[in-house]
Amino acid sequence: MLKGERLISGYGKTQVLRSLSFDLGAHEILGIIGINGMGKTTLLKTVMGLLPVEGGRIVLDGGAIEVLPAYRRSHLGFSYAPQGGAGFPGLTVKENLLLAGMMPGFGRAKPIAEVLCLFPRLEKLLPRPSGALSGGERQLLALARAMVRSPRLLLLDELTEGVQPSVTDEIAECLLSIHRSEKTAMIIADQDLSFLATLVGRALVVQKGQIVAQRTPTELLADNVFEAD
Ligand SMILES: Nc1ncnc2c1ncn2[C@@H]1O[C@H](COP(=O)(O)OP(=O)(O)O)[C@@H](O)[C@H]1O
Ligand SMILES: [Mg+2]
Repeated sequence: MLKGERLISGYGKTQVLRSLSFDLGAHEILGIIGINGMGKTTLLKTVMGLLPVEGGRIVLDGGAIEVLPAYRRSHLGFSYAPQGGAGFPGLTVKENLLLAGMMPGFGRAKPIAEVLCLFPRLEKLLPRPSGALSGGERQLLALARAMVRSPRLLLLDELTEGVQPSVTDEIAECLLSIHRSEKTAMIIADQDLSFLATLVGRALVVQKGQIVAQRTPTELLADNVFEAD
């Protein structure tokens, strides 16, 4: 469904992705792992269109999309939950969800009640300013915002960062249930390898802006997981 071909991208003169290639099957859940600073976030931002591609191509269903800006990619069904969770801290959870639904995008926006079926924990938090949420709650809101429409591709960056284990389990359950019901393809960058092992079919190891190895879910739990093959 989606291919990155020899991608080069970064921040001005700082080149981060250095000829990085990957492919993602339709409905696949793909993990991205690597220690801090290796380029996971840069890869997700480049796929979403938030960083310009300076070399290489991004191909969706056979068509090149690397020149499309992020909003055009969201019309194609790409949805991104950024590291740390985004949203407007001064607005309530409900307002943040409503606003996400008002952004033009792919397909219809779900009514809030339907979004809450996926994320029941958010229901009692609807009136709370999102700036007053805990880390785990903020991540759930980021995921809920990304799921307000029914994306074809979810790009998830460090959803479990600073989240207690019970909430991590809840997020994993939620993602599996979304995948079962909507067949959403996902690229999940995460440091929590046991979380990833419950979700992905395989994970790619990013090292200095390149893919250096591929891991099965079982291999994710072994030693030396970040080393090149
Ligand atoms: N806004 C930025 N400007 C310049 N360099 C950046 C910026 N964001 C990240 N980097 C650098 O890009 C490299 C990869 O970062 P990142 O993709 O965030 O890694 P990861 O998500 O794997 O921790 C790091 O060396 C980081 O310092
Ligand atoms: Mg990151």
